[in-house]
Amino acid sequence: MLKIGVLVSGRGSNLQAIIDSIEAGKVNAKIEIVVSDNPKALALERCRKHGIPYTTIEQKNHSSRKAFEEAIVKVLKEKGVELVVLAGFMRILSGHFLKHFPNRVINIHPSLIPAFQGLHAQEQAVKFGAKFSGCTVHIVDESVDAGPVIVQAVVPVLPEDTGETLAERILKWEHKILPQTIQWFAENRIKIDGRKVIVEGAKYGELPVNPALEIF
Ligand code: GRF
Repeated sequence: MLKIGVLVSGRGSNLQAIIDSIEAGKVNAKIEIVVSDNPKALALERCRKHGIPYTTIEQKNHSSRKAFEEAIVKVLKEKGVELVVLAGFMRILSGHFLKHFPNRVINIHPSLIPAFQGLHAQEQAVKFGAKFSGCTVHIVDESVDAGPVIVQAVVPVLPEDTGETLAERILKWEHKILPQTIQWFAENRIKIDGRKVIVEGAKYGELPVNPALEIF
């Protein structure tokens, strides 16, 4: 059973997808702790509902970013967390944090990176006039939304799309590729060679998700 820690800042729909996949027996992991940097995050309501341990660690209560990150590391280490999952966590983690969990921090981003990094990725895609966008689960490194890619799902962008309608279409896939990636980690099938990440034994070459989903 893979011990995971999930970092959130807001709504927590990706957290919910992880909870649901674990409860359904699709993902062989246990959420040891949810850490929010925002005490009002709806994600925490989801923790209460499902009996998942959580804590709030606010940057403003710490003297520096380093102290804030140290506080998060402490909690994650105390809980024996083996994989850190950023699920709508709105802060950039420094190399100092990452060195505690080498190649073991993953993030979900609502674009096909390296396109549309940073905030409002779906609106960026609509404004740019892209005809496809999607979502990515990647290893977190010191770049912002540009770490090694594990899996991507592609969706079309329609002429009438707004940032919101595109976000909704992309979100459905976020809720699949993030739990699926956790399951690949649980199965110890993620092999990282520099920027190249391979999921051992996975099926490559199909649309809309590459490599293909297995648990959905
Ligand atoms: C998602 O779109 C995710 O890709 C991005 O932030 C959003 C979080 O949504 N990183 P939620 O809190 O999981 O509902």
